[in-house]
Amino acid sequence: MKIILIANRLPVKIERNESGFVIERSEGGLATGLGSLETKAEKYWVGWPGIHTDDEAEKREITEKLHELNFHPVFLSDEQIENYYEGYSNSTIWPLCHYFFSFIEYKAEYWEAYREVNTLFSREALPFIENDDIVWVQDYQLMLLPRMIREQKPVTSIGYFHHIPFPSYELFRVLPEREEVLEGLLGADLIGFHTHDYMRHFISAIYRVLGLNCNLDEITLKERIVHVDAFPMGINYEQYHNAPALPEVREKATLLKEKLGDKTVILSVDRLDYSKGILHRIDGFDQFLQNNPAYHEKVSLAMIVVPSRDNVEMYAELKNKIDQAIGEINGKYSKLGWNPIYYFYRSFSFEELIAMYDIADIALVTPLRDGMNLVAKEYLAAKGNHTGVLILSEMAGAAIELQDALIINPNDKNEIEQAIVQALTMPEAEKRERMTKMQKQISSHTVKRWANDFVQELQGIKGQNREILQKVVGKRQLTQIKSAYDEASSRLILLDYDGTLSPFVRMPEDAVPSEKLLELLRRITADQRNKVVINSGRDHQTLDKWFAGLPLDFAAEHGVFYKDDGRWHRNILEKIVWDEEILDIIRHAIEKTPRSHMEQKDAALVWHYRNVDVWLAELRAQQLVNALIGPCARLNLQIVPGNKIVEIKPPDFNKGSEVLRRLEKDPYDFVLAIGDDTTDEDMFRALPADGISIKVGNFSPAAKYRIPLQSSVIPFLIKLIQ
Ligand code: UDP
Ligand code: G6P
Repeated sequence: MKIILIANRLPVKIERNESGFVIERSEGGLATGLGSLETKAEKYWVGWPGIHTDDEAEKREITEKLHELNFHPVFLSDEQIENYYEGYSNSTIWPLCHYFFSFIEYKAEYWEAYREVNTLFSREALPFIENDDIVWVQDYQLMLLPRMIREQKPVTSIGYFHHIPFPSYELFRVLPEREEVLEGLLGADLIGFHTHDYMRHFISAIYRVLGLNCNLDEITLKERIVHVDAFPMGINYEQYHNAPALPEVREKATLLKEKLGDKTVILSVDRLDYSKGILHRIDGFDQFLQNNPAYHEKVSLAMIVVPSRDNVEMYAELKNKIDQAIGEINGKYSKLGWNPIYYFYRSFSFEELIAMYDIADIALVTPLRDGMNLVAKEYLAAKGNHTGVLILSEMAGAAIELQDALIINPNDKNEIEQAIVQALTMPEAEKRERMTKMQKQISSHTVKRWANDFVQELQGIKGQNREILQKVVGKRQLTQIKSAYDEASSRLILLDYDGTLSPFVRMPEDAVPSEKLLELLRRITADQRNKVVINSGRDHQTLDKWFAGLPLDFAAEHGVFYKDDGRWHRNILEKIVWDEEILDIIRHAIEKTPRSHMEQKDAALVWHYRNVDVWLAELRAQQLVNALIGPCARLNLQIVPGNKIVEIKPPDFNKGSEVLRRLEKDPYDFVLAIGDDTTDEDMFRALPADGISIKVGNFSPAAKYRIPLQSSVIPFLIKLIQ
């Protein structure tokens, strides 16, 4: 088994110098995080080497160099870099996911290139992928890739991790290609986010955009379940914690200290990006200087800004604004021997960066939005036994784990100023206490653990999805069931109606049996060995009317009524008189929930909400159940949430009790039950050990087999009796 990591960028980049090509480390949280990932499995990377060349000989040379490190390069043309990388990835998706609505650019050529490059990645990666491998796709540049790989490799484990925020549905819906993007992601078995908030937004987009069935952290597809989970990414703690002691780092740190004298250093490190709140930070620092002259000549802000995406207009503009803002502040406050801001617009080596972390008294991390922000964690890890204070924006994913930082809203200049003052005046003991708590968190939630947790969960899902796939009634399963059917001389066939024999339609009264179904039932019942029972939650009058003239048996209203030997029987003698309180609760739910209605049966009350907006329906169903608990307990009634319904009924009978009654009465050597709803699971559980239970639609552990689509049920029964 190998792990194949596919990311837009390899954790290294190729650069050209006088002596040829050299390998350098890539910037950004994804590259540094995954670059330090340790696993026992063989790792293989597929990604862009960050260099453009059209020369085939150069491509070969780079490929050979990278293959030695188990890296496989995907070369992009200038046009692809412009439209896929700078375009769709960084001018459409990036601002969308970081809530920069007005920065979003929509261009047809961006989307076309995005699709084209995702296809190119799948073509490059597929030759390496074997069935038992784990494919782990990284980040927003490759959202279509999981599906593209799934189409070619149906049984391979595929994971996807989204390293940036996932926006709320109200923003995500503006994306013209929202369906394709979500469908692309659903090719994965496991989709990971840094926080539960991003995960919640994603699930809400799935059911609003694709209308799919989501059950908390699971999305049910026809052939498998996709899991969604939060895995906050960590860092290689040991590496950062031990690095300050490296001789090369000590040397650099000493030099820096000498140059800065006894000034207190506030440090910021980010890629040049509008999401990082660099201008807000400068503004906040400006206000701090203005209101706190006592700190002049004593405190400096060291800003490391790493060049990034400089061909994208918004980034280039930001660069100019930062230059200008820093120029103004330094012009306004600088004195001989003191600069308020030291500004470095370049990439730092690992050792240089650690030396900066080491000498910095305060880290000021102010993103307006950030998926995680690893700089905050690296700073804490590198502090060793020294004390330091972290000021952290609440908009960074990292803020969820690092509550002992000074948490600020970066849009509020006053908060930035106050946090700087608080950090500067914080007692040593408090600094140490906060630092210890946060170090404890990040030293136990490392990047290794992050990756292991993800891969472990992915492997678990693979087992579950394999089981789900095996249960689906295909040729092999049909043959098994059919041979049991053919050998049997007395058969009990129990069929649910709505969602099983009949499709789920908008209005329940429209679910009249089709001619095809009636013909099938005529044929099954013509065989004297078959006892066919329609086991439904519907009222007995409707069933009688719809199936008049057919030699069928029935159970109606979840087993309260049954028709046997041509006559209806009632399990409950007295007529249930519904309590006004219960009726009022349901009437109130209907008033507050447009397009929901109540059905009153002889022995059950049903609140139907199949045409109600999903979110509202879930809210109301939950509220209704909560409101009903008391009155129903008093009257000894059962509340049964079903498929787009909430039903209230006497507890003694259900679809299973009817099965037990039949099995006690007559012997059968073949028992088959088919149903789609949770209430049908009572029927499955009542079957004898060799009984055959088939769940229609979603997977259910209570059934032996599964037919994913309702439309396949009648064809299945036709084949069974042929
Ligand atoms: N980094 C780097 N070179 C530098 C400065 C920073 O490689 O000159 C690294 C830094 O160590 C961190 C990453 O870039 O690991 C930035 O990750 P973060 O999650 O903070 O932000 P992102 O760039 O992913 O948005
Ligand atoms: C963020 C993204 C990564 C990206 C990195 C650097 O961390 O989540 O996917 O690689 O920024 O950006 P770049 O455009 O230089 O790859």
